[in-house]
Amino acid sequence: MSQAVRIGIAGLGRLGRRHAENLAFRVPGAELVAATSPIKEEQDWATSTFPGLTAYASLGEMLNHPDLDAVWLVTPTSLHAEQTIEVIEAGKHVFCEKPLALETADCDRVIEVARKHADQLVMVGFMRRFDSAYAEAKRMIDAGELGDIFSIRCSSEDPVDPNGFFIRFAPTSGGIFLDCCIHDIDLVRWMLDGAKVTNVSSAGSRVMYPALADCGDVDNAFATANFETGAVATFHVSRTSHRGYEANMIIAGTKGTVEIGKAIPRQPLTLERDSSRTICGQVDFFERFDEAFLNEARAFVEAVRSGGPTPSSIEDAREATSLACSLRDVLTVS
Ligand code: NAI
Repeated sequence: MSQAVRIGIAGLGRLGRRHAENLAFRVPGAELVAATSPIKEEQDWATSTFPGLTAYASLGEMLNHPDLDAVWLVTPTSLHAEQTIEVIEAGKHVFCEKPLALETADCDRVIEVARKHADQLVMVGFMRRFDSAYAEAKRMIDAGELGDIFSIRCSSEDPVDPNGFFIRFAPTSGGIFLDCCIHDIDLVRWMLDGAKVTNVSSAGSRVMYPALADCGDVDNAFATANFETGAVATFHVSRTSHRGYEANMIIAGTKGTVEIGKAIPRQPLTLERDSSRTICGQVDFFERFDEAFLNEARAFVEAVRSGGPTPSSIEDAREATSLACSLRDVLTVS
């Protein structure tokens, strides 16, 4: 493909706006030509921020935009599977934010449609794979530098949210395993080359956000997964961190251990005073993964231009949903 990839974005919320800005200003070979949101203010934001862009009130209308090549889905998770199918059937490539769906059977429906449209690329947004630290750990594992991997300890912590955004978000997000832990699940599978899971357990609590009980969600969860290789992964996901946002992973092998993401400061500044030490923690995932979101968008656009394949498959996305559902389904709540 010699011309720019003409992209329409669906969803202009918290993350959709970031993706839109990346696609419009920071991704070579991409042209953001259209956007859709059911909310008029969001449509107006798009047309005023990106001159020449056309805004639509529905995905169906946007799919008729002239010469559209690809759609970026950044809509509520509960819509992902149906919208991905709609976009594929309209003949466009699809980038869909994580997770692909909230049930494995819905992922299977998407895969079935995608297989009938093999020329169209579908990729799910596991942007941590495009972070330089996780990517370096994967390279080390593949090169045998860590030996045989026997444990992966993951922790993903969101800061305490006084506005309660994620409580309003919870009914459509799928809960803590499908919304938050899914990143670590995907990374663990990636690090272990897609090894099969043999056993899972999970436990959680809702100490600061009791309203999550309405949708069966929790604000802290712990889980384990055994893999057929003998490796064990542990997961801790939290919505109540006091240190800010942090995504941390410790990968141990028979020859070495790597730790990713521990205590990354917002600024490279440590204040020592009155016998105490202070660093400024990161506020959110945008700050931590800005580069990864950009690399991910560049990789998908490049895959479309070169005819594929995409760096990660929808079969991987299906397996991530499947494992997240298994953890959700065995959850015991204190
Ligand atoms: P949000 O609630 O802030 O935004 C959702 C957007 O979708 C809004 O603009 C809303 O108007 C729009 N929308 C709703 N129905 C629509 C429809 N039928 N057609 C088109 N647009 C529609 O949610 P947020 O935080 O932006 O999350 C969106 C997706 O991105 C979720 O699936 C979430 O899991 C994912 N996400 C991924 C992250 C990552 O780390 N990769 C981080 C944050 C979100």
